[in-house]
Amino acid sequence: MAKIKTKWICLNCGYETTGYLGKCPDCGEWGTLAEEKLQKNDKKKGLTVYTGFKSEPQLLKNIQIDDAIRFSTGLSEFDRVLGGGLVKGSLVLVGGDPGIGKSTLVLQSSGNLAKKGIKVLYASAEESSAQIKLRASRLNIDSENIYIYAETNLDEIQVNIDNIKPDVVIIDSIQAVYNSGLTSSPGSVSQVRECCNILMNIAKTCGITVIVIGHVTKDGMIAGPKVLEHMVDTVLYFEGEKYKSYRLIRTIKNRFGSTNDVGVFNMEDNGLVEVTNPSELFLAERCESITPGSVVIATSEGTRPLLVEIQALVGPTSYASPRRVATGIEYNRVLQILAVLEKRVGLNLSKHDVYVNVVGGIDIQEPAADLGVALAVATCARNVIVDPETVIMGEIGLSGEIRSVRQLESRINEAAKLGFKKAIVPKASLPLKNSPNGIKIIGVSRLIEAISNSIPAKEEVGIK
Ligand code: TYD
Ligand code: MG
Repeated sequence: MAKIKTKWICLNCGYETTGYLGKCPDCGEWGTLAEEKLQKNDKKKGLTVYTGFKSEPQLLKNIQIDDAIRFSTGLSEFDRVLGGGLVKGSLVLVGGDPGIGKSTLVLQSSGNLAKKGIKVLYASAEESSAQIKLRASRLNIDSENIYIYAETNLDEIQVNIDNIKPDVVIIDSIQAVYNSGLTSSPGSVSQVRECCNILMNIAKTCGITVIVIGHVTKDGMIAGPKVLEHMVDTVLYFEGEKYKSYRLIRTIKNRFGSTNDVGVFNMEDNGLVEVTNPSELFLAERCESITPGSVVIATSEGTRPLLVEIQALVGPTSYASPRRVATGIEYNRVLQILAVLEKRVGLNLSKHDVYVNVVGGIDIQEPAADLGVALAVATCARNVIVDPETVIMGEIGLSGEIRSVRQLESRINEAAKLGFKKAIVPKASLPLKNSPNGIKIIGVSRLIEAISNSIPAKEEVGIK
């Protein structure tokens, strides 16, 4: 009888060890290690090793590129995060929370692709064909070129890929399919990785584009899409707030385009609708009468500038140590900005609670938001308003200096487009090659300078 070996594998990051650990030493998550039994003959039976292309060395200048190497999904926001469309023979991983709209997105794209004569095989391991048909009719998709196949066995799916010879294959979801060569259950790290490997082989050897859906799970016995990130060509995450209808799709890794790009969609009754001007969406609910502590910043997600509002609330604390709460921005970054404000501007916050919120539920990761946060806190603490037609951008260094930001021009252009009259930017990023009209650009090199420039003259008494 085959000897059974067990391994403990982290469902979040794929870290492997021989015994149970409460906390994963690699990703630091608690309780994510799960036991997997591996039969000794598993390896012989069928573990696929992705061997890459069979090709001869050739001169770079002699390599021919097929014109049809990229095809558009018909959703410009989805194309944008893919780096300009789906690449032939690539494997794209779309991750996201259950119910966020992953199946809707890929079904809508399939409909658009099929309309252009691209053959799509949609292998659904979670929903029956009838359920998908129902969704497709809701999305007005009716095409000759889409095959729906409700199947969980990857071997069967492979047989049908051979029969149908599609251009695009969709696997919904990777955690629900299994390869019979392995004894572990569907959704385990070994199954998920092995299935992904098989799909990678199909993509590279047959030139088929494969889109794999992966649920982000926090508990249970299901491996997350993170364990696949290193294998696939493109990793996209679908994010959104539970109580809001818009969705962001973000590029985490892309072998064929830039990363950190975002696409914005709105989930409506008949599917996802692209939002072509997201800044308008994020600023839509800004109050007419601006209150102290509200600032608009221009952040840049990948190649796209995005205007968002940052709010701060500063008030006397009733706790022994004052509270600091950051939503949508990194907590430690906020603490650092507060420290710079105390030391370099002389703003004493040791007896005040500070709350910082990025409006609209988006997550800002880049340091160019620093100056906006600092101004929101400083103006709220001193009870003055920032000029409502001013947009702010800049990174803050520990000595209170304002550091340069990338893509300044496109950020200012976006602000000018939305009617902003003044931009406070790092002096180090100036001058611009082409200054947009109708917006006054003020370069600042110190935090204190930025504060005095951002508030209307009559208010200036409030801040020293
Ligand atoms: P779905 O694509 O099934 O999510 P996932 O595959 O990521 O689990 O999306 C499900 C949600 O989207 C569900 O709550 C209903 C909503 N939805 C709409 O609001 N409008 C639509 O047209 C469709 C198809 C779904
Ligand atoms: Mg789904």
